Amino acid sequence: MPDTKAPLITQSTKQLTEQHIMHLTRQLATPAETDVLGHCLADQLVPGLIIYLHGELGVGKTALTRALLHAAGYSGHVKSPTYTLAEPYEVILSDQSVTIMHFDLYRMTSPDEFLEAGFRDVFNQSTICIVEWPENGKGVLPLPDLELFLTVAGAGRVVELRAITEKGKTCLTQLKFPPN
Ligand SMILES: Nc1ncnc2c1ncn2[C@@H]1O[C@H](COP(=O)(O)OP(=O)(O)OP(=O)(O)O)[C@@H](O)[C@H]1O
Ligand SMILES: [Mg+2]
Repeated sequence: MPDTKAPLITQSTKQLTEQHIMHLTRQLATPAETDVLGHCLADQLVPGLIIYLHGELGVGKTALTRALLHAAGYSGHVKSPTYTLAEPYEVILSDQSVTIMHFDLYRMTSPDEFLEAGFRDVFNQSTICIVEWPENGKGVLPLPDLELFLTVAGAGRVVELRAITEKGKTCLTQLKFPPN
């Protein structure tokens, strides 16, 4: 399959939020460790949570989301929502049915596209939103509770997790992904 993501965007990852109240940095030496982080994050999901995933093409944003969704109980195929921009997944959290919305805004060309698709309404207190390429939603995308910055480090990855809100801080405080 041809590379479907020719670089439309040449800017490096930008930070959208001005400040954070807590942060952690962890090594992800192998894809298996990315999966473990996804599992640990799944344990901390609460309705209404918004997570931004930053990082260059192929760094592992979808891989992390896939692991999180599977750990949250979704057993089907998780594909990258590159063309649909968003894909919903129904899971059960604490006996409650919750939608996890996985966004990939890489191909979003204007804020209008986000608004016209009705995405603004998806960000509510009952839906969990995970957003790849949040840089492209600047101005229309609600601010996150958590921001993850993934970078390539040798053959592995490094992830910095930043809590922007108290809700995000609770997630990080309770995250059972040990320092390594
Ligand atoms: N900790 C890790 N160390 C090495 N490779 C990893 C690690 N975690 C994930 N990977 C690999 O990196 C690739 C990640 O691809 P993925 O599609 O998840 O990237 P992405 O960040 O979503 O890219 P895009 O911006 O194109 O959507 C996969 O091949 C996966 O196996
Ligand atoms: Mg992806």
